[in-house]
Amino acid sequence: MSIYQSISRRRAIKIGLTGLLSMSATTASEAISLNEEREAFDNKSKRKFNVVGQDSLKKRAAAKGLIYGAATERGKFVSNPEFADLFVKNCAMLVPENELKWDALRPTPHIFDYTKADWLAKFARTHKMLFRGTPLVWNLALPKWFKEVVNRQNAEKFLVEHITAVTKHYAGEMHSWDVVNEAIEPAFGRSDGLYYSPWLDFLGPDYIELAFRVAANADPRAMLVYNDAHLEYDTPKHEAKRKALLKYLERWKSKGVPIHAFGIQSHLRGHQNGLFNAKKFRKFLADVASLGLKIMITELDVKDSLLPVNIKVRDRIVASAFEDYLSLVLDEKAVIAVITWGLSDRYTWFSTYAPRSDGKPVRPLPFDSNLKPKLAWNAFARAFDKAPKR
Ligand code: G3I
Repeated sequence: MSIYQSISRRRAIKIGLTGLLSMSATTASEAISLNEEREAFDNKSKRKFNVVGQDSLKKRAAAKGLIYGAATERGKFVSNPEFADLFVKNCAMLVPENELKWDALRPTPHIFDYTKADWLAKFARTHKMLFRGTPLVWNLALPKWFKEVVNRQNAEKFLVEHITAVTKHYAGEMHSWDVVNEAIEPAFGRSDGLYYSPWLDFLGPDYIELAFRVAANADPRAMLVYNDAHLEYDTPKHEAKRKALLKYLERWKSKGVPIHAFGIQSHLRGHQNGLFNAKKFRKFLADVASLGLKIMITELDVKDSLLPVNIKVRDRIVASAFEDYLSLVLDEKAVIAVITWGLSDRYTWFSTYAPRSDGKPVRPLPFDSNLKPKLAWNAFARAFDKAPKR
C-alpha cells in the first residue's frame, strides 16, 4: 500500500470517527460512505489513467459520433480570453449557464433582453460550435416581478408567450432546448410525483405537455429535451425518481408529446461513488432509450466538498467517478452528448453552492483553475476513446 493510500485510509477513519461525533445523521452517513469510498478508492488507485495521443476532448468525442460541450457564462469569456480559447479548443457545444433563464431574459413583464444570450450565440456561431438552451420552463431563476405579476388567470399567456418568443428568437440555430427542467420529484410528496412549481400551481400537471407543444410549434428543428437531476445513485430517493420519470416519459410519448430526448444532469458526488449501481443505472438508460428517446448528459461535474483535502487523492476520486460514470453511460448508444457544467475549476457553481468547509478551492471539472488538464481530463479522454461509435 502506497504512502498516500495509508494516509488516506488513516485520514478516512479519522474523518469517520471524529466526524461521527460532530456531524448530523445525514453527514455522518456521508462520512461513513466516505470511508467506504476511501476503501473503494484504495482498490482503484492502481488505475493509471493513461491516455493515447494529444487529441482534444471534442475531437475524441466526435470520433465516436458524440458531442462534448460545456456550460459557461459570457462574462467568463469577456474577462478571460485564455479561457475562451480553451473552451473553443475543447468544446463542440456551448450552453449558456444562466443567460437563457427567465431572470436573465425578462427584466420586466413586457421586455425580453437577449443581449447576453445573443453574444454567446454569436460566439458559438463564430467558432462553429453547437448552441444549446436551458431552460425554457423551471421553478427557479424567475425574475423578481414574477410572483407579483403572474397568477392563475394569466399564467398560460405568460408561459406560451415566453416559450414562443424565446424559441422563435433562436429558431434554426439551437441544437436543443431543455424545455422543462426539474418538474418531477416523488420525495416532494405529491401523489403524482411532480415537484413544486408555480406553473404546476397555476396550470396543473399539463403545463409540461403545453410547454413542449408550444416549443415544437415555435422551432420544429430544435431537439426538445426534458431535463432532470438526482437520478444517478442506488438510493431509495433516486430509485423512486427514476421510476416516476420512466412513467412520465412513457405517458408523454404515448400522448404524442414532442419530446425528443431526456437530459440527465449528472451532478455526481465524489463521496458517494460507492452508491453508484452500474447495473441498475444501465437498465434505466436502456429503458429510456427503448422509448425512442435520445439521452444527453447535460450538467456533468463531481462534487468534491466532502472528499479529503489532499489534491492527489481528491483528483483520483473525481477522475474515477467521471470514468466509471462515463464508461457506463456511453455504452448506451442513445446517449448523444456529454456536457459538463463548466470546463475549469476556476468557474464552477460549486464554489458558491457547495464550497469545502476547509475553504480549499473545489476541483469538480476536467481543467484546473490554471486552465491545465487534470486526471479528470484523462478520464474523459479514456471514456470517449473507449466508447462505441454511434
Ligand atoms: O447576474 C446576477 C448579477 O447581476 C447579480 O449581481 C448577482 C448577485 O445577486 O446575481 C447574478 O445572478 C446569479 C446567476 O447565477 C449568475 O451568476 C444568480 O443570483 C444565481 O442564483 C445564479 O445561480 C445559478 C443557478 O443555476 C440558479 O439559476 C448558477 O450559476 C448555475 O450554475 C445553476 O445551474 C443550475 C442549472 O441551471 C439547473 N441544474 C442545477 C444547476 C446547479 O444549481
